[in-house]
Amino acid sequence: MKSFRHKIVVVTGAASGMGRAYAELFADEGAKLALCDFDEKGLKETAGLIRGAHPQAEIITMKVDVSDRQQVIAFADKVEAELGKAQVVINNAGVEGNNRPVWALDISQIERVMNINFYGVVHGTQAFLPQLMDSEEGALVNVSSLFGLMGTPNASDYCASKFAVRGFTESLMTELQYSHVQVHLVHPGGVATGISRSGGNDDFKERFLKSDAKAICREVIRGIKQDKLRIICAHQARSSMLGIRFLPLRLLQKLIWLDMGRVVDKTHYPQNIRRKK
Ligand SMILES: NC(=O)c1ccc[n+]([C@@H]2O[C@H](COP(=O)([O-])OP(=O)(O)OC[C@H]3O[C@@H](n4cnc5c(N)ncnc54)[C@H](O)[C@@H]3O)[C@@H](O)[C@H]2O)c1
Repeated sequence: MKSFRHKIVVVTGAASGMGRAYAELFADEGAKLALCDFDEKGLKETAGLIRGAHPQAEIITMKVDVSDRQQVIAFADKVEAELGKAQVVINNAGVEGNNRPVWALDISQIERVMNINFYGVVHGTQAFLPQLMDSEEGALVNVSSLFGLMGTPNASDYCASKFAVRGFTESLMTELQYSHVQVHLVHPGGVATGISRSGGNDDFKERFLKSDAKAICREVIRGIKQDKLRIICAHQARSSMLGIRFLPLRLLQKLIWLDMGRVVDKTHYPQNIRRKK
């Protein structure tokens, strides 16, 4: 897809962070926007910012919880009825994990993260694919993470959800490789957004969430134009990718702990874990 002018672009999680940055950048490119988020106030702010910069912009917004399949389907119906068939869909909405090791996680905490980060992407993909298939051109962009490529401490819930997005999307890529629908998988590294809301791990935020959201989204948009399947971007993303591809898993685990161990919250690490002999 070479241009987004007059294209109908859907962005989930558009109330803040990268979702807002995608919305602003696609508006700059002349796209018509369909934005959703469960944060209605933030969503209105995003629409207001865009209308301020582009008074003629066509934008629709809807309060949607992406983990609720019926709400996502209702959103897809609204987009088609009010703007036309979607041509670009960015499944971006997501939440952080619970910042605890596996043994300290309740199953309900894992389910919540999976329901938003993984099933939200599944619902967004299935609700909008028929529109993308009917359009002259189509691009589906599913947001995973660098943590969808490697397992990091206190992030099993988040990593599981982002690995799942990767598996789901890579299968879809294979299925649609000869079709006109482009499928993209985005693996951002640390980006300075509000995702780490719990405030439980300021050290992590300071050390890792460094890249500028707009710069990252620009890179993703360039990747869509170039039809890049896998878009890896942001702080430490490329060096991590090299490690993931070429290092033995045991060495990779050691390097991950060396890099992240200092900022890992150890509250739930019991005294009775003995060191390996
Ligand atoms: N910030 C990073 O370092 C980073 C790194 C890798 C991947 N990501 C991923 O990028 C995406 C965007 O994250 P961000 O950093 O911009 O965070 P953010 O918190 O600023 O934005 C996420 C948006 O998703 C919305 N959202 C959350 N749950 C939702 C739900 N159930 N239904 C609808 N909307 C919901 C939030 O309200 C928010 O507006 C997420 O999928 C995140 O996992 C972020």
